[in-house]
Amino acid sequence: MTDVSIIGLGRVGLPLALSFADRGLRVLGVDKDPERLAAIAAGTMPFKETGTQALLERVAAGGRLELSDRVADAARAQDVVITLGTPSFSHIEIDMRDIRQALDALLPVLAPGHALVLRSTIAPGTTDFVAGYLAKRRGFRIGDEVFVAHAPERIAEGRFLEEIGTLPCIVGGVGEGSGERAGRLFSVFGAPIVQTTPVQAELAKIWTNILRYATFALPNLLMMDCEQHGANVFEVIDLINRDYPRGGIAMPGLTAGTCLRKDFTFSEERSNAPGMLLAVSRVNESVPLFLVEGIKRRLGDLSERKAAVLGLAFKRNSDDERDSLSHKLIRLLERELADVAAHDPHVPSPTQPFEDALRGADVVVVATNHEEFCGPEALRRISELTGPDALIVDPWNALGSGQVFAYAAELAALSAR
Ligand SMILES: NC(=O)c1ccc[n+]([C@@H]2O[C@H](COP(=O)([O-])OP(=O)(O)OC[C@H]3O[C@@H](n4cnc5c(N)ncnc54)[C@H](O)[C@@H]3O)[C@@H](O)[C@H]2O)c1
Repeated sequence: MTDVSIIGLGRVGLPLALSFADRGLRVLGVDKDPERLAAIAAGTMPFKETGTQALLERVAAGGRLELSDRVADAARAQDVVITLGTPSFSHIEIDMRDIRQALDALLPVLAPGHALVLRSTIAPGTTDFVAGYLAKRRGFRIGDEVFVAHAPERIAEGRFLEEIGTLPCIVGGVGEGSGERAGRLFSVFGAPIVQTTPVQAELAKIWTNILRYATFALPNLLMMDCEQHGANVFEVIDLINRDYPRGGIAMPGLTAGTCLRKDFTFSEERSNAPGMLLAVSRVNESVPLFLVEGIKRRLGDLSERKAAVLGLAFKRNSDDERDSLSHKLIRLLERELADVAAHDPHVPSPTQPFEDALRGADVVVVATNHEEFCGPEALRRISELTGPDALIVDPWNALGSGQVFAYAAELAALSAR
């Protein structure tokens, strides 16, 4: 007997499968990637997510997680959760190919009693499309015979096990019974279940990310404006936020990651303000170029210069490089013919040791605010390896010196004050 199947054992699906198993459900995990399945079967998490390695070992010992590479096997459970990737095409349109493929594999094996819960992030209208597809192809009465709901994932990477039991679980079911079926499944986690319509669930998820993406675009634009005006962005941010009771502005940085970078396109597909969110994206996407231009203004031609990039992940202390702007930054530096070295202690991609990347660098960019790159001790170690003439670029203010662009010697003088 299988209680629930999870299709797509990625950063969302695998922690979810483990969490269901941890609550006592018998889980079938389905993925098409043989390497991923082999790693899980061997008891090794294929990526970092706080607490999940120990959980995988516990769940494996309890024998409550089975694995398969066939989507059709998912129908062994009455409840099927889809956690497949949903990228966007460059056409400003959701790419549903993985979901369509999974639906086609499920079509012949679905039967009355099955519930399909879409956990992936999807464009408005997708849940109704999936329900319509099943109704059209198999004649099911959705919400009565077969159930379809959207229960979006809103957990931040690194916080899955903490937030699965606390974040309100939004559920948008199609027809009469779908919301209740999906709500019952997710109620094992103990977080409040909030029932709504499918399209409202879809919008709530996408706009959760749009809000974050736009929130970070503002300080990023301010950082670029400050450079034009010869102003210090961190001082302006402090002036805005200090003892001001009506909200505050966030800090600048390389804002990216697979979710933030694409989810706004699901809204732009049919926007009433076409271009507004594209402008937000353009601001965030232009930060690497802004940094490279700022470096060139200070150092001139980069073709004989060594640049050290610290951090390849898109997020602090994460091993996730998907859609990280560090790679764009490196590509842009390479197009200036700079010799680029990179160091990241978290990601699986091979990078140079800290000392090798920094020794003799003319410019150092803190591209990810990993804890290893934060605070005065990190600044001291960097300056020691580069020497006083190196330009230190720190849009996050990770080093705490309050300067986006400054020479190591200037920073040493500032910290000695
Ligand atoms: N990563 C996050 O932090 C996060 C947060 C919230 C929402 N989301 C959303 O959740 C969804 C999943 O994201 P993710 O980061 O887990 O993606 P992912 O790419 O890490 O995982 C997708 C998994 O599905 C597998 N897969 C692809 N096609 C398949 C098929 N046809 N059959 C079986 N397996 C297949 C892949 O091998 C991969 O393991 C996306 O819609 C994403 O936008 C992600």
